[in-house]
Amino acid sequence: MKVVLVLYDAGKHAADEERLYGCTENALGIKDWLESAGHTLVVTSDKDGEDSELEKEIPDADIIITTPFHPGYISKERIQKGKKLKLLVVAGVGSDHIDLDYINESGRDISVLEVTGSNVVSVAEHVIMTMLVLVRNFVPAHEQVMAGGWEVAAVAKDAFDIEGKTIATIGAGRIGYRVLERLVAFNPKELLYYDYQALPAEAEAKVNARRVEDIKELVAQADIVTVNCPLHAGSKGLVNADLLKHFKKGAWLVNTARGAICNAADVAAAVESGQLRGYGGDVWFPQPAPADHPWRTMRNKYGAGNAMTPHYSGTVIDAQIRYAQGTKNILESFFTQKFDYRPQDIILLNGKYKTKAYGADKKV
Ligand SMILES: *[C@@H]1O[C@H](CO)[C@@H](O)[C@H](O)[C@H]1NC(C)=O
Repeated sequence: MKVVLVLYDAGKHAADEERLYGCTENALGIKDWLESAGHTLVVTSDKDGEDSELEKEIPDADIIITTPFHPGYISKERIQKGKKLKLLVVAGVGSDHIDLDYINESGRDISVLEVTGSNVVSVAEHVIMTMLVLVRNFVPAHEQVMAGGWEVAAVAKDAFDIEGKTIATIGAGRIGYRVLERLVAFNPKELLYYDYQALPAEAEAKVNARRVEDIKELVAQADIVTVNCPLHAGSKGLVNADLLKHFKKGAWLVNTARGAICNAADVAAAVESGQLRGYGGDVWFPQPAPADHPWRTMRNKYGAGNAMTPHYSGTVIDAQIRYAQGTKNILESFFTQKFDYRPQDIILLNGKYKTKAYGADKKV
């Protein structure tokens, strides 16, 4: 079979850490395994546009493996070109770069699987870090000392504690719930969540979180809001100028879910006007982010309030070990025709939705 693997290039960094599996050079550690079994593997980072290597390989590909970090966008047109496609694997979590609705509607016998759980702790830790970085105003303070300066007031005037704040998560699934668990130790005033379904009573009690069913009421009460839901038709552009008006003035917003859940221009305007005190996260649309993306340079009135990084929260080395192994397990199950996939990894099975987050329920 022909397997196409879309990853980012690591260049000189690939040799620094052999467990940096998620780059073209290290190819998820599956190159020898696939080739010794007689399969053909094409590894590329060249993914966008008609002349890209991905586009050229699609007609012959049986399997395409992509990641959320350097997403190989699998559009309707590409699925139509890929007449042999049988399996799409996401080495990581989040299949919004694949036109899932089209596969479902087309009746094509294509399965889409993710490595569910591979990133949850990694992303939850990044959310907590980003909250601390923003609320405590770390970035300007660090830049000050690196530049040889010493001006405490310049950074203290925009720095606070997490303790005593009301913190809300949009989405309380695998990542959102872990964020709530980790926040308990900070003694917040209150933890709130918004989700299409309530947490089980014991889970809610464990983190002492309260569900708010109206998203405008949720954001109106929160000092810090974090987005932890999948991107789909119901969440695209969810955080826009209209919703931002309902935020508490000067709230912080952290989004490590997907860039397209927030309207980029509206968020940048809110940071610059002071409606948001700061915004941070690591997800962008598209990826790689263009050099002029407003989130690269937006600042609040103190020249702070920006905690953006490239999309790496779910691709730290510990996560790479998990998603490389998980991808191999999925491929093995497919090649041996056992199809004994982990149920939680299945997004579409033989062209039909298996998961609520994308399919059956279109709410957040
Ligand atoms: C999936 O396709 C079926 C038709 O085959 C349709 O009834 C259903 O609404 C589709 N599901 C989604 C979530 O689009």
